[in-house]
Amino acid sequence: MDQPSLYSRYSELQHADNLFVLERYLRLLRWDGVAPPGAGAGVGVGAADRGGPYAVLDVGVGDGHFAVEVLVPRLPGNCERFVGVDSSEAMVTFANQHYRSRCMEFVHLDISSETVEASLECSFDHVFSFYTLHWVKRQRQAFHNIYKLLKPGGDALLTFLATNPIYDIHQIMAKNKKWKPYIKTDYIAPYHQKKHPEKQLENVLKKTGFVKYMCRVENRTHQFHGYDILRKSINAVNPILSKLTGDDAEDYMNDFMDEVRHLPSVKIEKINNNEETITIHYKLFIVYAVKPDDT
Ligand SMILES: C[S@@+](CC[C@H](N)C(=O)[O-])C[C@H]1O[C@@H](n2cnc3c(N)ncnc32)[C@H](O)[C@@H]1O
Repeated sequence: MDQPSLYSRYSELQHADNLFVLERYLRLLRWDGVAPPGAGAGVGVGAADRGGPYAVLDVGVGDGHFAVEVLVPRLPGNCERFVGVDSSEAMVTFANQHYRSRCMEFVHLDISSETVEASLECSFDHVFSFYTLHWVKRQRQAFHNIYKLLKPGGDALLTFLATNPIYDIHQIMAKNKKWKPYIKTDYIAPYHQKKHPEKQLENVLKKTGFVKYMCRVENRTHQFHGYDILRKSINAVNPILSKLTGDDAEDYMNDFMDEVRHLPSVKIEKINNNEETITIHYKLFIVYAVKPDDT
C-alpha cells in the first residue's frame, strides 16, 4: 500500500463505497449544537452538549484525496483540526505534499501498534476510517487505539471489507508454488467468509469498552468497465507486487487476473465493441461506536 499516485487514480470502488457510507451514516455522529448533514432525527444528535469547534481523525487516510475532497467538505460546523494517519510513509508524504494546510496534517501511525503518541490520546471528537481496517490483523489493538484516541463522548464511523472475492484469489494463488513464498495469511481480511462477522466484531467493540455501537454488514456490488481498470485497481492495493520485480510482477498479475475470470462471485459480460464489464459482489462493514462520556 505504498503507491499513492496509482491509488489516487484507481480507487473508484473504494470511493463509491465511502460515499455510500457517508450519505447514509454521517448523520449518526454526535454533531451537538451543529445541524447534522441532511438534518433529520439523527440517532446521536443532541446527545451531549459539546458543540463548538471539533477535531477529526481519519485512520488509514491513504493519499488524502477522499478525506480532503469528499469527507471534509461534508462535515458540518467548524472542523478546526483534521489529522490523517497512515502506516505507509509514502502515503503520508504524498498527502502532506498535496493537502497539508493550517488545520490539516498527515502523520505516520500504525493503528495496531502497542502504543500511540501520548499527545494524540483523547484528542478527537470523531474518528473515521475508510477501507483500512481489513488490512489490520491485530483487530483488538486497533480498536483499543481508536478508543484511546477518542475524547470521552466522542464517536467513530468506520467502514471496511468483511468479505471480498479478492481474498479467495489470494488463497488460490497461495497454493501456487511460484507465488506461495510471497503470500502471507495477513493479506486475508480478518472476517473474510466468517459465518457471523457482525457478532465477532461486536464482541471486539464490547471488550474494547464501547457501550453504544452499531455494527452492520451491507451487501455491495461494483462494476468495473474494462479489465485494465480492474487490473490497475488491484495493482494499487496489492501487497505482493512490491516484493516482485520486472517479469515476475507481470506474471503474477496475469495469473491473478486469470483467476478473476474463474471465480463464481465475479460476473463478466461483453458489451459494445467487445468491451468487458466485470461485476463483483462483496460485503462491507459499517460500524458506528460511541466512547462513554464518563471515561
Ligand atoms: C485502501 S487505502 C484507503 C485510503 C483512504 N482511506 C480511502 O478510502 O481512499 C488503505 C490505507 O490504509 C493504510 N493502512 C493499512 N494498514 C494500516 C494500519 N495498521 N494503520 C494505519 N494505516 C493502515 C494503508 O497504508 C492505506 O493507505
